Amino acid sequence: MSPETAGDGAAAVQARYPRTVALADGRKVTLRLMTRDDVEAVLAFASSLDPDELLYLRVNITEPGVVERWVHYIETGRTETVLALDGDTVAGEASLLHNQTSWTRHLGEIRLQVAPRYRRRGVARLLVDEVEWIARALSLRMLTARMTLDQTAAQSFFRRIGFQREAVLWDYVMTADGKMRNLLVATKRL
Ligand SMILES: CC(C)(COP(=O)(O)OP(=O)(O)OC[C@H]1O[C@@H](n2cnc3c(N)ncnc32)[C@H](O)[C@@H]1OP(=O)(O)O)[C@@H](O)C(=O)NCCC(=O)NCCS
Repeated sequence: MSPETAGDGAAAVQARYPRTVALADGRKVTLRLMTRDDVEAVLAFASSLDPDELLYLRVNITEPGVVERWVHYIETGRTETVLALDGDTVAGEASLLHNQTSWTRHLGEIRLQVAPRYRRRGVARLLVDEVEWIARALSLRMLTARMTLDQTAAQSFFRRIGFQREAVLWDYVMTADGKMRNLLVATKRL
């Protein structure tokens, strides 16, 4: 991708937000890109996750320093994060992690979570549609998603939206409770 094309894509991404969309039950949520001003709301969102789910966070987003680093990646163009907001409350987030300078520069990795009380209403599906749109705008060719083999909701979700199982890496991750887990890598070609 040429720098000009990359710049056009980034400008198109900025121009797409904010947008208000309706969930299947009629409730409206606002979709917009995360900025530094969202740190407190994102920390509140992280603390709304169930304690057993916090074990499975790849990085602990309940820690202010971790969210600060996340904002740094947003500001330096390595991460795009779309927030789904119900008023001022973060209902869910989806991030596209990518690195234009490595030999995996055609890939984007999705990370997403939805607050427990907003689940099964289509929030994750909306967010992933946005991440796919952004990935195409940035000329990426493939999305990847990583989850442990015991995250069954995530597996059902990604299968449902067209990802396929690519590999299982045994004992590859250690959750916050110190247990090794098997990591599933799923992909979707764009
Ligand atoms: C996985 C997760 C993001 C799904 O969020 P969600 O907003 O509830 O998902 P949606 O409502 O958009 O679901 C879309 C489809 O995915 C599937 N799905 C979602 N949650 C499911 C579950 N718990 N069990 C089985 N299928 C599920 C269903 O097919 C669903 O369609 P349906 O409701 O019409 O049956 C959410 O459960 C979550 O945040 N989990 C913890 C974090 C995580 O595992 N993240 C993924 C790893 S990066």
